[in-house]
Amino acid sequence: MALATQTFDALVIGGGGAGLRASLQLASSGLKVAVISKVFPTRSHTVAAQGGIAAALGNVADDKWLWHMYDTIKGSDYLGDQDAIEFMCRNAAAAIYELEHFGMPFDRLENGKIFQRPFGGMTQNFGEKAISRTCAVADRTGHAMLHTLYQRNVQSNTQFFVEWLALDLLKDADGDVLGVLALEIETGEIHCLRAKATMLATGGAGRIFKASTNAFINTGDGLGMAARANIPLQDMEFWQFHPTGVLNAGVLITEGVRGEGGYLVNSEGERFMQRYAPNARDLASRDVVSRAIATEIKAGRGVGKNKDAVYLKLDHLGEALINSKLPGIREIAKTFANVDPVKDPIPIVPTAHYMMGGIPTNLHGQVVVPNADGGESVVNGLYAVGECACVSVHGANRLGSNSLLDLVVFGRAAGDKMVEEVKKDNTHKPLPADASDKTLARLNRLETQTQGERVKDVGAALRETMQTHCGVFRFPELLQSGVAAISQVAERAKNTVIKDKSQVFNTARVDALELDNLVEVALATMHAAEARTESRGAHAREDFGQRDDENWLKHSLYYRENNRLAYKPVRLKPLTVETFPLKVRTY
Ligand code: FUM
Repeated sequence: MALATQTFDALVIGGGGAGLRASLQLASSGLKVAVISKVFPTRSHTVAAQGGIAAALGNVADDKWLWHMYDTIKGSDYLGDQDAIEFMCRNAAAAIYELEHFGMPFDRLENGKIFQRPFGGMTQNFGEKAISRTCAVADRTGHAMLHTLYQRNVQSNTQFFVEWLALDLLKDADGDVLGVLALEIETGEIHCLRAKATMLATGGAGRIFKASTNAFINTGDGLGMAARANIPLQDMEFWQFHPTGVLNAGVLITEGVRGEGGYLVNSEGERFMQRYAPNARDLASRDVVSRAIATEIKAGRGVGKNKDAVYLKLDHLGEALINSKLPGIREIAKTFANVDPVKDPIPIVPTAHYMMGGIPTNLHGQVVVPNADGGESVVNGLYAVGECACVSVHGANRLGSNSLLDLVVFGRAAGDKMVEEVKKDNTHKPLPADASDKTLARLNRLETQTQGERVKDVGAALRETMQTHCGVFRFPELLQSGVAAISQVAERAKNTVIKDKSQVFNTARVDALELDNLVEVALATMHAAEARTESRGAHAREDFGQRDDENWLKHSLYYRENNRLAYKPVRLKPLTVETFPLKVRTY
């Protein structure tokens, strides 16, 4: 079948913060660049980022990028690559000033400088005391960033394909990536989009869990595409559970609430975090706070009808502060928890929030895979940035407000590299005649199959399985049975049926294609989690309660074929400074 084909210098899959920062770099250097997005770009999940973006500006107290680097390495439980972390923290201040000059409306201090608030695990002088390092636009920082970047892209003539779903990478026999196949959701038409450089910036996959702060669009599309192209997925066992999701709704309540002075209490009214993290208390790292909440609930000190939450208290902050610094939180609490936080505490519970793992890349966003010499090779033409990528700056646990930073620092770096590579060669490699065959066969099955399970039911089983078997605490029997259960779900996903093929806007087709991607992410997560017999960062095993540097200071790589796992070393050597040695991690 001849497909409609268009050709670009560069393609960016995903219109969130990372994708838009990269596309801006590409478009402003005069290249022909297209962004493909499932939703209108300003509805991408970056819009939901609340509390802020980290950078050692020192606007509230003396600060240094080296302290930020130390905090990030410690936060990662030493699994983060120290060269990538140095790169991110060194470039953080420049990234903020760049956003400011793009027009991002940061909140201001009295002296006119950019407002900064404390966030978990961010400290002065290598852990001495908490510091205000997170730059914010009230509790709508991601919203402001996304609109700023979108407008800059429009000004730079980036071409947008809105409500298009990328399906699979197009490759040649050398394994070079030559573009993507994509579904125009409105018409159902399949398009071939050719490019010299293709970037995956498809965000997270939190929708593998039943309770998640993630938008419904976060279905791991880039990871599914990579896995189907035989690219391994790195460190997929590490998922962050944000301590404060609204009970039963999952909606995020920013860590900025605790940064502004809010705190957690159990059913006895106790500020229990002082027992778990005597120094940092409510502003300990997220994995520590989430485990503390889960432990309190398990011990019967939960609140609410089912005692399955704890309270986040902020009424003492006063209405004026809440209205100026946390207006969105007041709105969310009223809408989803039916409480006004000016008067009453919010019932919250740890909720799946962020995927630390992803598609392995180098500092330039180039996708890298192990080679036969024991080293790594670049996949020509393929890049990944943002949550779908693993560069790896977050290791086993990300610090709050480092994700927006990751998007813009590595989005720009990858954009620069793409410009350099694209400008080297003016030709497009020829596309093999069979490059689309597997994808078209996948689509054909959906069109022709008349009997089978509903996508909705298989998706629900997937989310239930992940929630039960791979949560805040991980138990050996549950992990083992989880591997079997998720394999069954994966088999069921091969036999789904679209009942109503005439459905308006092809949403049933999109749901089925997204399920394929969720399955890849869930399989990778479950297999990698079952195999890692230690506790590190967000991966907390009941049977192996300690970090085991001797055996497990290494990144996992999950290959789709036979669910194979391989491992590679953590890069402990930074770019210009001394290695931060491994230490016991306490807050
Ligand atoms: O709590 C928050 O505002 C979330 C920020 C983040 O995940 O970085």
